Amino acid sequence: MAATYVDLRSDTVTRPSPAMREAMSRAEVGDDVYGEDPTVNRLQEVVAGRLGQEAGLFMASGTMANQVAVGTACRGAEAIVEAESHLFHYEMAAAAARSGIQLYPVRGSGGVLTWADVAPAIRPAVEYLPRTGLIALENTHNRAGGKIYPVEAMAEIGAEARRRDIPVFLDGARLWNAGVATGLPLTAWTEHVDAVTVCFSKGLGAPVGSCLCGPADFIAAARGVRQSFGGAMRQVGIIAAAALYAVENNVERLAEDHHRARRLAEGIGQIAGMDVEPPDTNVVMVDVEEGAGDGASWERTLAEEGVGVHALGPQRIRAVTNLDVDDAGIERAVAVWEKVAGRLRAS
Ligand SMILES: Cc1ncc(COP(=O)(O)O)c(C=O)c1O
Repeated sequence: MAATYVDLRSDTVTRPSPAMREAMSRAEVGDDVYGEDPTVNRLQEVVAGRLGQEAGLFMASGTMANQVAVGTACRGAEAIVEAESHLFHYEMAAAAARSGIQLYPVRGSGGVLTWADVAPAIRPAVEYLPRTGLIALENTHNRAGGKIYPVEAMAEIGAEARRRDIPVFLDGARLWNAGVATGLPLTAWTEHVDAVTVCFSKGLGAPVGSCLCGPADFIAAARGVRQSFGGAMRQVGIIAAAALYAVENNVERLAEDHHRARRLAEGIGQIAGMDVEPPDTNVVMVDVEEGAGDGASWERTLAEEGVGVHALGPQRIRAVTNLDVDDAGIERAVAVWEKVAGRLRAS
């Protein structure tokens, strides 16, 4: 890829920095299946602490962490999920395939479910209906454009669910972004849920890893589910060290990604035919008017000009700011966008 390539396809495309690699090379390790990897243990402790949870469990990916969470919480039951959630769209029907879970998608407004949306989907306790075993939320919401979940909405769902003995799970792959963008501690959201996952390989720039956090007995059970998925690893401190480095060094700087996302949205919004909402965090969604080219042509043509984006729908493009894109990269992306708009309008 050309050195000038501005890769905005996702915040997962970043490469570990020299300092992060250095931390990896120095990592103390042990056999994590025996709970003896000191770096993993430290990471789990630090992350659980940030999330106000008793315990944590390191895993290879956000998808595995989500699947271990839902599999531990509600095997054989029904889980209410947001209709545009990662759990519903991008996890290969794994909840059904691996844990016999039926997902019940409910559409929220901009990815945000309120109790009023969730309540009608809760099954009455009748012997011929599935049991509602989980409510799953996502913050920030990826397909809703990095949308931050309002704390009040999550608090209401948490309180109502608790009253009915239904656990609440949070896919917090990008919860770090919500915390930095609002200035709130992550516990503002996590105190209302029973378990939560966070990712290290997105905005935080680590090459691998996610952590599931929750009560100690839940995490003990989740260890068994992780084992059954083939997800238990050995001297895994090598990669946990990168995650620990990311948590200690790369959280506050997410504010730069958010600032750049706003600048990108503003620049693209001034181009004819582009409809862009100001982003909450680092995900910019661009809706291209009919007649100004379709999502696939935009993705292809921008890539030819050195800007990577992702077509999320026939007329929708996603651009995600990240650790490897600086201010100059954003200005270049806006300039290229303008050039491509002219080209696609003329074609
Ligand atoms: C909201 C959300 N949850 C979970 C995941 C899964 O993470 P991974 O790609 O590490 O499996 C993603 C990945 O983009 C995501 O956006």
